Amino acid sequence: MSIIEIRGLSAGYGRKTVLSNLNLVITKPSFVSVIGPNGAGKTTLLRVLAGLLRPRGGLVKILGVDVSKKFPSSIKVRLGYVPQRDSINYAVPVTVFDVIVSGLIDVCPAPRTVTKREVRQRACRVASALGIDDLLDSYFHELSGGLQQRVLLARALIKDPDILLLDEPLSNLDEATQQEVLKLLRHLVDKHLKTVIMVTHDLDVALEWSDLVVLISRGGARTFKPGVHEDVERLLESYPEEERKIIPSRRPYCG
Ligand SMILES: Nc1ncnc2c1ncn2[C@@H]1O[C@H](COP(=O)(O)OP(=O)(O)OP(=O)(O)O)[C@@H](O)[C@H]1O
Ligand SMILES: [Mg+2]
Repeated sequence: MSIIEIRGLSAGYGRKTVLSNLNLVITKPSFVSVIGPNGAGKTTLLRVLAGLLRPRGGLVKILGVDVSKKFPSSIKVRLGYVPQRDSINYAVPVTVFDVIVSGLIDVCPAPRTVTKREVRQRACRVASALGIDDLLDSYFHELSGGLQQRVLLARALIKDPDILLLDEPLSNLDEATQQEVLKLLRHLVDKHLKTVIMVTHDLDVALEWSDLVVLISRGGARTFKPGVHEDVERLLESYPEEERKIIPSRRPYCG
């Protein structure tokens, strides 16, 4: 059974088609980076996988279940999604603890199924893994962008999902925190057999940390393996011209 199987996906908004005939298969727990120019459809792809945008056509299977027409909650609970821009309502002051715990909403719509103590323990565990355990009682809207990003990651992790869908999770983080988050994600893949699908604009990060790089362009997806010399060369050649400036210098993994 594949973790993700997408065949001939088309998706868009109104009259606009963003993804057309996109194919992507992920067969084992992996760290996958999704790259591509602004407007290519990276967020659109993640929204389809998160069940927030219904495909117009094609097949989308997650953990062996066809979600193309109907997105069952049994699959939703196995996904953790961090959107590109958070949509938390700032008019309502909420604490970091509340934000993290709201990630359990799919898992236990009936709150009695999980005790308060268990909820607290789970929140503390993920907060501690992300170095934000001393912020649980702080107000979310008072935190810096980077800390908010970490809280949103904790929110996605609290339900212990099999697949993490992360839309530019590093964008607000300083270099040291980026490295910490990347290490954590790598650990989740290697030791806990999770699959991480992360959108990034940093090709350097994609090549260094992931098992598979997916380049979204012209509505489709092309996949490359960072460790394979020919793949890296092809990726560098096909990477959009306007983003070439962020291409890293050729390094040892290039062969
Ligand atoms: N809700 C929407 N309604 C209409 N068009 C949309 C909507 N969301 C995105 N689009 C359009 O779909 C296209 C793909 O957008 P998407 O957000 O998936 O790109 P992206 O690759 O994530 O870009 P970025 O790197 O800027 O985040 C863009 O042309 C965008 O304007
Ligand atoms: Mg986007």
